[in-house]
Amino acid sequence: MQILFLSSNRHKAEEIIGMSKAFGIDLKWSRYEKLEIQSGDTSEVARTSAALAYAALRKPLIVEDSGLFIDALKGFPGPYASFVYHTIGLEGILALLDGKRDRGAHFKTSIGYADGSSTRIFEGIVHGSISDRVHRGRAFGYDPIFVPSGSKKTFSEMGVLEKNKISHRMRAFEQLAEYLIKNNAKEKVIK
Ligand code: IMP
Repeated sequence: MQILFLSSNRHKAEEIIGMSKAFGIDLKWSRYEKLEIQSGDTSEVARTSAALAYAALRKPLIVEDSGLFIDALKGFPGPYASFVYHTIGLEGILALLDGKRDRGAHFKTSIGYADGSSTRIFEGIVHGSISDRVHRGRAFGYDPIFVPSGSKKTFSEMGVLEKNKISHRMRAFEQLAEYLIKNNAKEKVIK
């Protein structure tokens, strides 16, 4: 069974397609512009987007919604990460954290899956910290300022495979894959 991954973000697509191959899941990227409700909860956003997209396309599909939650900023920007990225940007976030000792933060991804019989949510979180400067490498969103716990590098300084081993997105995807495997909604599984 083929599953569509609906996203206009090529970085997310690159990561998710890599994950699907590792699990032997037949996933096809579509740039379909999904509808997104406004909510402080990424799972609610993903659930609604998946259900609305399924109603329009009538094909098994996944969508995902991610947020960055910074402890010293009481969870800001949270699910509004995209808007904040395109307005104050990475330098703006670093300025808000200037002089703050607490650099703790986490990413959360909610994957919404819909196949007509049900709509399900799978969540993944990775904890880490915000660096004190913008690092080089793969320029995907907040990756140049996010250092996952246990690492000395930002996500941007890791290759996709390395990031995929520990990322919020992979943790959510693993649960989706487990569900699909249990429900025989896969072609074959290579573990
Ligand atoms: P969205 O609302 O799920 O599209 O994502 C919100 C924003 O968070 C994106 O536009 C990116 O700027 C950022 N973002 C989401 N996932 C990641 C990630 O894995 N690394 C870095 N930034 C991310």
